[in-house]
Amino acid sequence: MLRSPIICLLAHVDHGKTTLLDSIRGTAVAQKEAGGITQMIGASYVPKEVVEKVAGKFLKTMKIELKIPGLLFIDTPGHEAFTNLRDRGGSLADLVVLLVDVKQGFQPQTVESIKILKSHKTPFLVALNKIDLIDGWKNHKTTSFLESFNKQPSHIQQKLEGKVYEIMGKISEYGFDSERFDRVSDFTKQVAIVPVSAKTKEGLGELLMLIAGLSQRFLGERLEVRGESPKGSILEVREEKGMGTTIDVILYEGVLKRGDEIAFMSFDGVKNTKVRGLLLPDLKGKLRGVEKVVAAAGVKICAPNLEGAIPGAPFVEGGERARLEKEFKKYLFHGENEGVIVRAESLGSVEAILRLLKNANIPVKDAYVGNITKKEVALASAQEDRFLRVVMGFNVKVLHEAREEAEKLGVEILYSNIVYKLLEDYEQWVEDKKRALKEEALARLPPPAKAKVLPGFIFRASKPAIFGIEVLKGRLRKGVKIMDEKGKVIGEVREMQKEKEKMEEAGRGEQLAISCDGVVIGKNLKEGQVFYSFISEEDVGEWEKRLEVLSEEEREVLNEIKEKVKKVII
Ligand code: GTP
Ligand code: MG
Repeated sequence: MLRSPIICLLAHVDHGKTTLLDSIRGTAVAQKEAGGITQMIGASYVPKEVVEKVAGKFLKTMKIELKIPGLLFIDTPGHEAFTNLRDRGGSLADLVVLLVDVKQGFQPQTVESIKILKSHKTPFLVALNKIDLIDGWKNHKTTSFLESFNKQPSHIQQKLEGKVYEIMGKISEYGFDSERFDRVSDFTKQVAIVPVSAKTKEGLGELLMLIAGLSQRFLGERLEVRGESPKGSILEVREEKGMGTTIDVILYEGVLKRGDEIAFMSFDGVKNTKVRGLLLPDLKGKLRGVEKVVAAAGVKICAPNLEGAIPGAPFVEGGERARLEKEFKKYLFHGENEGVIVRAESLGSVEAILRLLKNANIPVKDAYVGNITKKEVALASAQEDRFLRVVMGFNVKVLHEAREEAEKLGVEILYSNIVYKLLEDYEQWVEDKKRALKEEALARLPPPAKAKVLPGFIFRASKPAIFGIEVLKGRLRKGVKIMDEKGKVIGEVREMQKEKEKMEEAGRGEQLAISCDGVVIGKNLKEGQVFYSFISEEDVGEWEKRLEVLSEEEREVLNEIKEKVKKVII
């Protein structure tokens, strides 16, 4: 026996998920949603009979006999703030339908969805929606795409083909081979693209046929019913008027009955409770109680003691508590000795971020559900590696005091409500930080300089010596040590002045006065004598790592200095 597969609809906002589902169910849910945005994960069950009604003809031609009892569709919101719900949907789904608006093509949440699919290895197909919006497209009042397509004039057909190719190109950027569904030769290797219109229902027949056919053919074992013991996943934890805390769950295995005892994960550990009510929305969205549900199903559970249930975490039959406890340890993440700190609003998103960071080889020290406080910042500040002194936050609060502390301790807080943006921001931050450190190092290194004491311009012989010079090559900077032609350090430049203006640095050909500690004119430095900036062997090494920032001439002087410094050491 097979259970119903869980089909998740993923798409960018407004690409038509709810309308498509609606079209399949023949209801008008889309019109009632607040602000046109789906506010929660809703699941709708499409029984076998409906699938047969819409796709019967195609199932027959393909010789597919439906063995699954129906299809459970999960509609996820396309709004960018709902990454965690999309991720939860993506990980629960047996098969995903990725909707793409034919006019808009790939959009940010389409890309995000495809990355979710890749990381969960979830099989998917693409519904290229709103084909009725193609200029000149004629509605042929059929649920068959191919029938309607064949009746369109050839320039319209070409327009549509163009869109299909565009999508094929986009999908290939993420490493998937794809093709229009009727040209796919191997469904295990190619992603099928089904052009549809949720509005006119053209293509709905083939789409449903493919969803049902592909799940039956390729998910057979996964859908095999193993027993009655209920297993599911908590999608959302909600307060309902008159009911207290309830959980919206997807039951993916077994049967769940009123009165059953279940064990679930909460922030205080694994808890047990007895199911007091099972609620399903009717076609108008009104909740009504049922005695039992069979997998796969989306249902609201009323029960005492549900506070602290963790969205994204599993639940099982009460007697299987031990198994859940073992698994709970997995949810309590054990990190590396050194790594970044992660805080997210649900375990599902913590998992998503961890997966992402792992793929990018970024070590994580600590990851959990919760806000960013001083504690997280303190944890991050203790990292040896300065590129790991980072706290990443996803859809959580960053407390004011945490920001202050971060400023003080030199910890970076990266925050986003798009999971994939966190990684991008981190990589950008590392790059910027490296550049800043490089600039800092450059500012600290003494630049190579070769200069000459100008005869007749000795203003003071010592303590400090003040005399006129000309820079022959390179740059002389205030504060550097200077050495004679043999490489012996003779003093340090205290001040530099030209036409009564103080200077920080002087370049080739400039004549100026400098004051030097250590120099005694006539003793360790004479009129007309050449001298150099002193660069230690270690700093010469530092320069040699960054030769690209030196001019040809500066490199020459650096070499001269290097030779002299070496000789002295020997
Ligand atoms: P969110 O839940 O907010 O992410 O959006 P959604 O993907 O569920 O999109 P929804 O179904 O709410 O559709 C968005 C808009 O596109 C609505 O105005 C629909 O009427 C319209 N729409 C959806 N499908 C089609 C279609 O096939 N053709 C045309 N012309 N309009 C469509
Ligand atoms: Mg919607």
